[in-house]
Amino acid sequence: EGNKLWGGRFVGSIDPIMEMFNSSVSYDKRMWSADIRGSQAYVKALEKAGLVNMSEMEEIVTGLDKIHEEWSQGTFVLHKEDEDIHTANERRLKELIGETAGKLHTGRSRNDQVVTDMRLWLRDSCSTAYVHLVRLIRTMVDRAAIEVDILFPGYTHMQRAQPIRWSHWILSHAVALCRDADRLGEIKKRINVLPLGSGAIAGNPLGVDRELLRKELHFDSVSLNSMDATSERDFIAEFLFWASLCMTHLSKMSEDLIIYSTKEFNFVTLSDSYSTGSSLMPQKKNPDSLELIRSKAGRVFGRCSGFLMTLKGLPSTYNKDLQEDKEAMFDVYDTITAVLQVASGVISTLQINKDAMENALSPDMLATDIAYYLVRKGMPFRQAHGLSGKAVQLAESKGISVNKLTLEDLKSISALFSSDVSQVWNYTNSVEQYTAAGGTAKCSVVAQVEQLRTWMKNH
Ligand code: ARG
Repeated sequence: EGNKLWGGRFVGSIDPIMEMFNSSVSYDKRMWSADIRGSQAYVKALEKAGLVNMSEMEEIVTGLDKIHEEWSQGTFVLHKEDEDIHTANERRLKELIGETAGKLHTGRSRNDQVVTDMRLWLRDSCSTAYVHLVRLIRTMVDRAAIEVDILFPGYTHMQRAQPIRWSHWILSHAVALCRDADRLGEIKKRINVLPLGSGAIAGNPLGVDRELLRKELHFDSVSLNSMDATSERDFIAEFLFWASLCMTHLSKMSEDLIIYSTKEFNFVTLSDSYSTGSSLMPQKKNPDSLELIRSKAGRVFGRCSGFLMTLKGLPSTYNKDLQEDKEAMFDVYDTITAVLQVASGVISTLQINKDAMENALSPDMLATDIAYYLVRKGMPFRQAHGLSGKAVQLAESKGISVNKLTLEDLKSISALFSSDVSQVWNYTNSVEQYTAAGGTAKCSVVAQVEQLRTWMKNH
C-alpha cells in the first residue's frame, strides 16, 4: 500500500472491506472544485512563507487547473485507492507534475482541508437554496396579489372558524418562508469562517498567513482555535436544522393543500404536471407532489437528528466519525432544493375553485361577528360572546341557520339588536373588519403583499 498518503508507518495492507468502509470519495467528490480552490490558495500561502518558490507554486497551480479541467470535462479517473477527494486530487497532481506535488500539503492536514472544503461547498450551495426559496416566495406573493378578492373558510383545529381571504392563507405560509430565508442568511456568516491553517490539531508551525488564505477564499473571518476549527461541525448542524424548520413549513402548507384538494373540500385542483394516477382506480388523481414534500420533511429531520447523534459523545478534535457529516449535508441540500422547486411549480400551476371556496362559507362562521356587533353597541365582550352563543343555540333549536333568525328572535336575546344587524350576514363585511396590521381585510392583505415585495427587493 505504498501509494497511500499515510503509508509510511504501515507494513501490512488494508483489508479490502475496510478500504471500502473507510472510503468517502464516492460522495465527497462533489467537493472537487472546493478542494482545488482551497489548495490553490494554500500554495500561495506556502510561497509567501518561503516553503515553495515561485516556479513550484506556478507548477502546482497549473497542475491543479488541469485537474479542475478533468473534473469539469468528466475525464478525471478515480482509483480504487483514492480514499477521499483530497487524496484523489493530490494523487493526480503527483501524476501530472511529479515530486513538487509533495510540497502542497506542507503544514496542512486533511482535518483542516476537509472542513475548509465543506464550508466552501456549503456557502455556495446555500446561495443556490436561497435563490430557490426566494423564487417560491415570489410565486406565492404574486398569486396572493392577484387573488386577493377570493374568500374562503379559515379553520382552527380543522373546524370552521372565520371567513378569511384566500390570499391571507397564501401569505401565512409565505411569511414563514421569509423567516427561513432570513435564517439562512444568518447561518451563512457562521459557515463563512476559514479553518485552513489549523493543521491536524495544533495549528500551523510554518508561518502560513491565514489572513492571506481568508482573502483568497473570500471568508468573512478566521477561526479562533485550531482544535475547535478542525472538529466543530456546528455549521452543518445549523444547516440541517435550518432545512428541518423550512421543511416543517413546507409540509404544513402541503398538508393544507392535500386537504383542500379532496373532493369533499374541492377548493383547489392540482395541475396534472404535479399529480399522478392510480394503477387500479381510473378516476384517481393523487397529490403525490405534496405528499412527497410532506414526507421529505421526515427524511430531513432524520438527517438532522442522526447527525446530532454522531456528534454527541465525541471527544474533542477530529475523529473519523465526522466523515459522516457529508452525506447528511448533501442529501439535505439535494432534498430541499428539489422540494423548493416542486413547491414553486405546484403553487404556480394550482387551480383554485372560487365557487367551491365561497360556497363553503356558512353563517355559523359569523357568530364572532354577532358578538362584535354587540360590542360596537357598547356591550362588554364577554357578555356579547355569551349572547351570540345564545343566538346560535336558538337557531339550532329552530332548525335554521343563524342568519335566518328574525329581528324579533334577536331582540329577545338583546335589546341592542336592530335592523342594521343584516349587515353582519355578509362575508365581505366580515373580513373587512380586520384592518389592523396583519389581518385579513383587503387593505391589510395588500399591505402584507407590499411588505413582502419590499423584502424581496432586498433579497
Ligand atoms: N475523508 C475525511 C473526512 O471526510 C477527511 C479527513 C481525514 N482525516 C483523518 N485524520 N483521517 O472526514
